[in-house]
Amino acid sequence: SSPDIVILGIFVADTTYRAERQPRLGETILGRSFSLGPGGKGSNQAVAAARAGGHVGMITRLGRDVFADMALDIWREAGVTSLASTHDDGQTGAAFIFVDDVSGDNAIIVTQGIAAEIGPEDLDARRAEIQGAKVFLTQLEQPLDAAHQGLAIAREGGVQTILNPAPATELPDAMLALCDVLTPNETEAEALTGIAVSSVAEAERAADTLLAKGVGAVIVTLGERGALYRDATRSLHVEGLDAGPVAETTGAGDAFNGALAVAFAEGLDAADAVRFANATAALSVTRSGAAASMPDRAGIDALLERSRQAE
Ligand code: RIB
Ligand code: NA
Repeated sequence: SSPDIVILGIFVADTTYRAERQPRLGETILGRSFSLGPGGKGSNQAVAAARAGGHVGMITRLGRDVFADMALDIWREAGVTSLASTHDDGQTGAAFIFVDDVSGDNAIIVTQGIAAEIGPEDLDARRAEIQGAKVFLTQLEQPLDAAHQGLAIAREGGVQTILNPAPATELPDAMLALCDVLTPNETEAEALTGIAVSSVAEAERAADTLLAKGVGAVIVTLGERGALYRDATRSLHVEGLDAGPVAETTGAGDAFNGALAVAFAEGLDAADAVRFANATAALSVTRSGAAASMPDRAGIDALLERSRQAE
């Protein structure tokens, strides 16, 4: 079946190192563990959305190498339709992820490889798939002009647009005006607005600034405190859920965004959509890895049911 959700983004192989601390320049330290697995925000979001029950197509560029095979394997397993092009003259990207063994916090270097060359033409080539979908979702790991073109094609076709503005950067107003939904975390909200966000009230102020620039709705993700949804008429703080002990938080934002796309494609209202996304993110942090930690629909529905009974 043709995808309801089309995602533009990148795949990279995550190389994750756990250690007590980061090495200084010129220094070598011993780490605790290493793992290799599928990552990249767009691909993580695609896997999250597919496991959460969406029909998902993924637009990106891959090389022809072992990391590309890793991408195709995880997409096949999750049921993501590849709308990727393969390039003999480029590498598939990789990310260095340092995880602090004590706090669980991470620091990441992403090298996009051939995905750094994704351009507006990649979106033009997938106009039919984008305009045939219900939801178009992208982030900012590929070049900005590609994201802009994807949003413009989707908007022109009446497709709901979601921009996850990660990693943090400033954005032109013309691009913000193409976003039906914008989903910054606290750091990204500050980069976009100049307003430091560490409380719900500050998140509301940042959201108002973005609404004034033409964004349809803003969802500020607040980590374990859940998320703030704000549009022209409503402001909802949706509490986060607790699904158990935290194993690794890498990809939690991607779990949220992938699930949000599914919820909107299914026509859920804002409060239920954010609840569904919160549950998906909460489950993802109880498992290690990025794409590998995305929960399936049965698990998400079970957590939502348990939290309803606890109310
Ligand atoms: O959002 C998490 C992702 O960001 C990781 O999988 C890593 O690849 C980086 O792109
Ligand atoms: Na995880």
